[in-house]
Amino acid sequence: MTVSEAVRNRRSIRNFLPDPVSVEVLRDVFDAARWAPSGSNIQAWRIIAVTGTERDAVIRMTLETQPDPARGASDPYPIYPPNLWEPLRTRRFALAEDMYRALEIPREDKPARLRHITRNFEFFGAPVGLFFVIDRRLVHGQWAHLGMLIQTVALLLEERGLGTCMQEAWAAFRPELARMFALGDNELAYCGMAVGHPDRSRPVNRFARNRISIDELAEFRGF
Ligand SMILES: Cc1cc2nc3c(=O)[nH]c(=O)nc-3n(C[C@H](O)[C@H](O)[C@H](O)COP(=O)(O)O)c2cc1C
Repeated sequence: MTVSEAVRNRRSIRNFLPDPVSVEVLRDVFDAARWAPSGSNIQAWRIIAVTGTERDAVIRMTLETQPDPARGASDPYPIYPPNLWEPLRTRRFALAEDMYRALEIPREDKPARLRHITRNFEFFGAPVGLFFVIDRRLVHGQWAHLGMLIQTVALLLEERGLGTCMQEAWAAFRPELARMFALGDNELAYCGMAVGHPDRSRPVNRFARNRISIDELAEFRGF
C-alpha cells in the first residue's frame, strides 16, 4: 500500500468486529510511528493502549461515572470553541447528518443519537483503545505535534488492514482517565482512538464523506 492509498483508504470506522489485535502489531506500528515529526524533536507524547480486562474497565468507568454537565463549559481544553462560525458550523452539521442517515437514525430521534454518541465509550466495539497523552504545561504547538503522531499511527494501522476512529469524545472523562491510568499531575488524555477490524458491511463505515476542494484548501502563488 502506498502512502497515497493509506491516506485515501483511511476513514473513521464506527463499527468493529470483535477479532483481537495483537500486541505485536501495535508494537510494530508504534515502532514506526516514533518517526513522526515534532518541533525541535521534543516528542512530548505518550500512548496508552488498552485491551481485554483493561479495556473493559475503561468502559465500566464510563457507565459508573455521572458526567458533570458543567464540565464541558469549564474544561480549559474544549473540543470546539463556543458558537462555531460558518462555514465550519455547516460542515460539522453535514457530517452528523450523513452519519445519522447511514445509521438510519432520524434527525428528531435524540435518544437514538445519544445512544450512538455513547458508543464512543465502548470504542464502537473495537478490541483496542488508544489514548494519546500530553502534558498540560505544553502549548498549542505541541498539541499540533501530537496530531502528527495520531495520524501517523492511523495510517500505519490502515496499512496493516486495521480500522481506526479518532475519539476526542473521551475528553468527557479526562479526570477519570487520569485516575485510572495514574497519569502524572500535569498529564491529560487528549484524544482516544478505537482500533480493530472494521465491519465493512455496516453503512456507517461506508457513507460518502465530503472534503473542501483543492482550491478552497490551497492558494498557489508564483507558480
Ligand atoms: C482529533 C479527532 C478527533 C475525533 N473525535 C471523534 C469522536 O470522538 N467520535 C467520532 O465518532 N469521530 C471522531 N473523529 C472523526 C471525525 O469526525 C472524522 O475524521 C471526520 O468526520 C472525517 O471523516 P473521516 O475520518 O471518515 O475521513 C475525530 C477526528 C479527529 C481528527
